[in-house]
Order: sequence, then structure tokens, then C-alpha cells
Amino acid sequence: MSDLDTSPQTAPRSATPRNDGRFPPDFVWGAATSAYQIEGGIDLDGRGPSIWDTFSASGHARGDTGAIAADHRRRMVGDVDLMADLGLAAYRFSIAWPRVQPSGAGPVSEAGLDFYRALVDELLAHGIEPVVTLYHWDLPQALEDGGGWVARDTAARFADYAAIVADAIGDRVRRWTTINEPWCAAMLGYAADVHAPGRGDPAAAVAATHHLLLAHGLAVDALRAGVPTTPGTAGPEIGITLNPYPVVPATGSEADLDAARRIDGIANRLWYDPVLRGEYPADVLADLATVSDLSALRADDLAVISRPIDALGLNYYRRHHVRHEPGASASPSPWPGSPDVAFLDPARTPTSNGWAVEPRGLYEALVRVSDDYDAPPLYVHENGGAFPDDVAADGAVHDRDRLAFLADHLRACHDALADGVDLRGFFVWSLLDNFEWAEGYRQRFGIVRVDFATQERTPKDSALWYREVVRAHRVVDPPASAEPAGPAPTADRPTSSSATRPRDRGPGT
Ligand code: FCB
Repeated sequence: MSDLDTSPQTAPRSATPRNDGRFPPDFVWGAATSAYQIEGGIDLDGRGPSIWDTFSASGHARGDTGAIAADHRRRMVGDVDLMADLGLAAYRFSIAWPRVQPSGAGPVSEAGLDFYRALVDELLAHGIEPVVTLYHWDLPQALEDGGGWVARDTAARFADYAAIVADAIGDRVRRWTTINEPWCAAMLGYAADVHAPGRGDPAAAVAATHHLLLAHGLAVDALRAGVPTTPGTAGPEIGITLNPYPVVPATGSEADLDAARRIDGIANRLWYDPVLRGEYPADVLADLATVSDLSALRADDLAVISRPIDALGLNYYRRHHVRHEPGASASPSPWPGSPDVAFLDPARTPTSNGWAVEPRGLYEALVRVSDDYDAPPLYVHENGGAFPDDVAADGAVHDRDRLAFLADHLRACHDALADGVDLRGFFVWSLLDNFEWAEGYRQRFGIVRVDFATQERTPKDSALWYREVVRAHRVVDPPASAEPAGPAPTADRPTSSSATRPRDRGPGT
């Protein structure tokens, strides 16, 4: 537990004088999306079904599905134009495994690969750097039918898929991330029933954890072998994208500190330690042993799981505030082996999906991984907020709350840089309003509004502001024309009461 920061208000680490607020000249400014959340076009390219098609069709996303989503599969060219208009230097997107390999093994869809080839070419033609995520949760349904991530074979299939993608676009893509937020895939999908496939089986989640990590390591090898390096140019940058949460205990009591240790273990150290140190944290294994025989966790895989990586993506949304409370956890819970933890509501104005606004937590997450691990260069691969967007009479969306959210989180990034963190880039979540997993279309995270009836795109004030940030390489003031914001976030302390709400079970819901 020595490495758990229990302070919600970590002071800056050094007295490094702040500069004029500029980010480094080569700092990468981008926006992010994922395939199932925006593509639609599920009937094109011979695409096979994914676990999210199945899960959403059975009503698990408030009745919504990604069948059409933001129709990006058909509107890709216009969307890249939009990115260029916004001045983005980079675009992080994911590849839909079932569009490339419809049943997750064997035959490849050239039409599916052609779509991604065309996307990469379109981006490069506009001077936008592609950043490819191989897996953002849309597992081919055929693989789930064979055991999904609980089956060790799925990791080997993922390595084959990585090699196929590297062969198709590796000559034009330098930046890669293997798996997005494996905590969500394993815990929300296999331990709980919040995300696809919704198994609700803690032992299955423990096996899925190991196989997702193994898949990452095998994919690193496949990418290294398959992405050509041109002498004299920067080699490929390969990593993984994790979603760290600073964990804040409600009090300094032994029980609350242990609740924080457990949640920090499953949310953070269960991923950082194997990837960056080649070992599982012993205390987390002891917690997980209460729900699993741990037989899937073969020690000799750790050398593969900890293959050197060139970059680490972090997705940050909020902290977790916890206290010990017998039997408090939801059932089934995404925190296997830790049934006695309640999640508290920080006393703040939350975003529209109930997540607290805690920009300082981003600073803490960046500093923590830099201090505690031998971390490679860092990127914020996702950060953003869901807010209710009103379309004004002039057709604009004056999303001052999102703009303030992003500005505060970028300031946290700048503080981390000033304190020596090797942060290389920032990607807004998200470019477009999209299918927000279990929340369907009810939560809007885009800096560009999508009217899902007409598919019309409208850059919100946050997008126009972000364009100025990218241009100036610093957090600029909001445009004078924007309407007044709501109250700015000020305090970061949690309330001391309130039990876990039924849906307050983790991110990406
Ligand atoms: C993250 C996911 C992303 C999106 C945001 C809001 O956990 O990676 O797809 O849902 O949350």
C-alpha cells in the first residue's frame, strides 16, 4: 500500500516555475473515437457480428445499438475534412476486429481492411497522424461463443489479427495501442453485466484479465515484427491504453484504507504491475483468490505481458472515493473479491452521466505512474465529459461546461509537464457524439454534435476553442461570444455519506 496516494489534493512536486503556459512544440494534439461507437455500417464489408451487436440488441444499452451510430463508415471522408477544419494533428481511432476478420479467426475481409486503408490515407492526405487502437471492446461474437476472453486461445487469435492489421497499414501508421482499457473489458464485461458480454462471473473476469494482458504482449510482438522501420525515421511507437483512477479513502481508518488498497489494486496496479514490472501485485492476487483459483494466470506469460513498450496511453475521467461498508458492492460487481466497498459521491457538480469533475486527479494519475513505475512516454488517450447540449437558436452549441472541463484538465496536464512528467500528447474524448456503451445515445461526449436523426455534424464551442488551443499550443481563453458557464469546479472532497448507486459501478457505462 505504500504507493497509494491517499491525498485528494496532492501538491505540485517541485517549485519549478511555470512558463507562459505553452505545451512543448512537439506535443501531439488530437481527438479520439472508437469503431463500435461511431461506425455503424454493420452490414458492410462482410463484417461479422461483435459482442456489442449481441449485447445491445438484447436491450442492454437502454434500447439503443451501434447499428447506425454516427454513420462514420459511410461518412468517413467528410469526418476527416472536419478534423482538418479543427486543426487536429492526430486522430486516435479503433479498428473493428469483426470488420477485418469477421469471425475473429481465419478469413480476412479485404473490404474491411480497405476501409481502414482509405481512412489512414485520407488522414495522411490532410496532415493528420493516425493513432490506431487494435481493440476497443468489439470482440467478434464467434470468439465469444468459443469462450471469449476467458479462453486462452483468444489471445493467440488477437496476435494473428494484429499481424493482419500491421501488414495492411503498418507502412503508413507509426503510433499503435493494443487494447483500450482492459479493466473495462474484463471487469464490466465478465465480472459484472454492465458491458458486453455481460457474464457476471468474477472467476471468468480473472481469466479474462490475464488473457487480455497476454493478448497485449503477443500483439506487441506481432506489431514489432510487422510494422516496417525505415532507417533514419522514428520507429513504431507501440503501447497499451489503461484507465487509471486515483483512489481516495473516506477516512484514515484501517478499514477505509484497505478498501482504497483493494480498489487501487484492481483498477490500477493489476494492469500497471504486469505490463511495466512483469509481476502481479501479491495483495491483489490474494483478493482475487477469494473468487478464482487463479489457474489462468501462468507466471511464464509475464515475460510476454511485460514486453517493452514505447508509449503508455492513459484515459482519465475521475477519481474513485471509497469507504469500507459490509456488503456494499453491487452484485454482480466489477470489483471481484472486494464485496465490502462503497463508492462515494464527491460533493461536486457532476457531468451528465454522474461522474464527478476532478481535474486534479489527472495530475495525480500522471505523476503516480511516472513516480512509481519505469514508465515510457505518456499520452492522455482520452479525456472529456458528457454534458447536456442545448442547440441555441443560431444552431450553435454553447457547451461552456465541457470547454471549462477540458481547460481545467489541460491545465492539470501542464502542471504535470512542469513537474517533470514525460507527457507527449492529449486526445479529447470524443471527436463526435456517439454510442456511449450501456448509456446508448443519452450521453454526449463529442466536441462535435451529431444529430442522430439527420447525421448532421455541428462543431460545438468546445471544438472551436480546442482548435485555438491546438494552434496556440496552450490553454487559451474561451471565445468571448460563448454564453456564461455554470459554476466552475472548485473543491475535490467527497461527501462522507451515500451508498453506491446502482449504476455508479465504474467508467464507460
Ligand atoms: C471510456 C471508453 C470510451 C468512452 C469513455 C466515456 O471508458 O474508453 O469508449 O466510453 O469512457
